[in-house]
Amino acid sequence: VPADEALELGLIDSIATGDADALTLACSLAREAIASDGTLREDAAVTKAFRQRHAQLEEWRKPDPHFADDQLRSIIAHPRIERIIKQAHTVGRDVAVHRALDAIRYGFIHGFEAGLEHEAKLFAEAVVDPNGGKRGIREFLDRHSAPLPTRRPLISREQEQLLLEQKELLPIGSPFFPGVDRIPKWQYAQAFIRDPETGAAMHGDPIVAEKQIIIPVERPRANQALIYVLASEVNFNDIWAITGIPVSRFDEHDRDWHVTGSGGIGLVVALGEEARRQGRLKIGDLVAIYSGQTDLLSPLVGLDPMAADFVIQGNDPPDGSHQQFMIAQAPQCMPVLPDMTLEAAGSYILNLGTIYRALFTTLRVQPGRTIFIEGAATGTGLDAVRTAARNGLNVIGMVSSPSRAATVLSAGGKGAINRKDPAIANCFTRVPEDPSEWAAWEAAGHPLLEMFRAQNGGRLADYVVSH
Ligand SMILES: NC(=O)c1ccc[n+]([C@@H]2O[C@H](COP(=O)([O-])OP(=O)(O)OC[C@H]3O[C@@H](n4cnc5c(N)ncnc54)[C@H](OP(=O)(O)O)[C@@H]3O)[C@@H](O)[C@H]2O)c1
Repeated sequence: VPADEALELGLIDSIATGDADALTLACSLAREAIASDGTLREDAAVTKAFRQRHAQLEEWRKPDPHFADDQLRSIIAHPRIERIIKQAHTVGRDVAVHRALDAIRYGFIHGFEAGLEHEAKLFAEAVVDPNGGKRGIREFLDRHSAPLPTRRPLISREQEQLLLEQKELLPIGSPFFPGVDRIPKWQYAQAFIRDPETGAAMHGDPIVAEKQIIIPVERPRANQALIYVLASEVNFNDIWAITGIPVSRFDEHDRDWHVTGSGGIGLVVALGEEARRQGRLKIGDLVAIYSGQTDLLSPLVGLDPMAADFVIQGNDPPDGSHQQFMIAQAPQCMPVLPDMTLEAAGSYILNLGTIYRALFTTLRVQPGRTIFIEGAATGTGLDAVRTAARNGLNVIGMVSSPSRAATVLSAGGKGAINRKDPAIANCFTRVPEDPSEWAAWEAAGHPLLEMFRAQNGGRLADYVVSH
C-alpha cells in the first residue's frame, strides 16, 4: 500500500515528506506524547495509536473459528487470490501456499498466540524441507527461482471502455494540451511482459513479444518531468530487451512489464519541484528526450555521466519512451533542433550520442586520419560515417552489399568493403585456440587488408569502430 493510501485508510498517522524524516518525526511525536512528569498524554497522537493497538491486540488474541470457516473461505475465493494460488500451483509452489494458508487458518481457529507458535513450526519445517526452503534458497542464489505471481493491473475490455469514456485513458494519437487538459490516470504503452498466468518472462520475436498494455501514469519526482510523447524512436536496444538476449531485463527489476523505447520527442506536462524551481523547462515545452539516465546526486556525475550508475531508459530500466506519458530526468530533456520533423527530432539522439562518445571521447579522432567503420550503412554505423567525414576523416565502411556501399559513399565515405565479396567472405572466423593455427588464420585475412590499402593510399586505418 503506498504511503498516501495508507494514510487515507487510517493505517498510519503521518508521513514524513519534504525535508522531514521518519526518525525526527517519530521523536517529536514521542516527545508530544510524554508529559513532564513522565506519564502519557492521552490526547497525543502516539498515545491514541498505542491504546488502539493494544485494544486491537486483545481482539486479535481471541479465536474466531467462524471467520476461518466463512470469511476466510470467500477471501481465498477472490479472483486475485485465486490467481495467485493457481500461479503457485503452475510453478510448483503449492506446498508453500498451503503452509501459509494453514498458518492463517490455525491462527483464527486457535487464537493469535497458538497461531504464531504453529507458524513457527511450519516455518521450521519449510526451512529443513529439501524441496522447500533449501531448494528455494539454492535457486534464489543461482538466480533460477520460479517466477512470482504478477502484479500488473489487468484491465478488462469493459474497464478499458469505461476509462476511455471517463477520459482517464486517451486513445493513442489524442491531442493533449499541457496545463489545460487533465492528466489521465491510465495510459497505453508498448511493452514486453511477464505472463499473467505463470509469471514467466515472455521474451521472443519482437513482432509477437511486444504488446500494447494499459498501465498507470506516474507523477514526476523532484528532478523529473512527465512528458506526453509525440514520436519515439525504434532502436537496436528494443530488440535486445524484447528478445531477452543476452540477459532478461526482468532479472534486473521487479516490474511485471518493461516499456521499450530509448528516447523521443514530446511535450512537458508536469514537472517535479526541483525541475520547476530551476526554470529551464516549463509546462508545454516541446523537448527532445535523450534516454541516458544517471544518478544525478552522485559525486562522480560531473566527472563522467557514464560513471554515475548510467542506464539507458527502455533498455535497462523498464520505463522507456514507447508509452503515452513517460517520466524523464530533467537533464534528459533537450531543446529541439530547428528544421526537423517531429519523427526525425525524436529518433537521432541515442545513435548520435553513442557515436559522439565513441569518436570524440574514446578515440579522440583527429582530422586527416583514416577510420574503418563496421556496419557502416545503418544505425550507429551510418552516424559514425557522417560525423567522421564531416570532421575531416577518411572513412572506409564495411557493408554487406553494393547498395549499402553506395550509402556509405553518399554519406561522405571515401571507400567501402563488402564483407560478402567472395575474395574475403570466408575470412571472418574465430581466432583458433591452437597457437600453431594463428599464422594461417592471419594469412586468410590478408585479402581484406589489401582491399583496405587499395582504397587508402596503401595504408591501414588509424581508428576502428566495431559493434
Ligand atoms: N543504436 C544505438 O543508439 C546504440 C547505442 C549503443 C549501442 N548500440 C549497439 O550497437 C550495435 C549496432 O546498433 P545499430 O543501432 O547501429 O544497429 P543496426 O542499424 O541494425 O546496425 C547493425 C549493423 O551490423 C552489421 N552487421 C550485421 N551482421 C554483421 C556481421 N556478421 N559482421 C559485421 N557486421 C554485421 C549490419 O551491416 P551489414 O550487414 O551491411 O554489414 C548493420 O549495418 C548493437 O549491438 C547495439 O546494441 C547501439
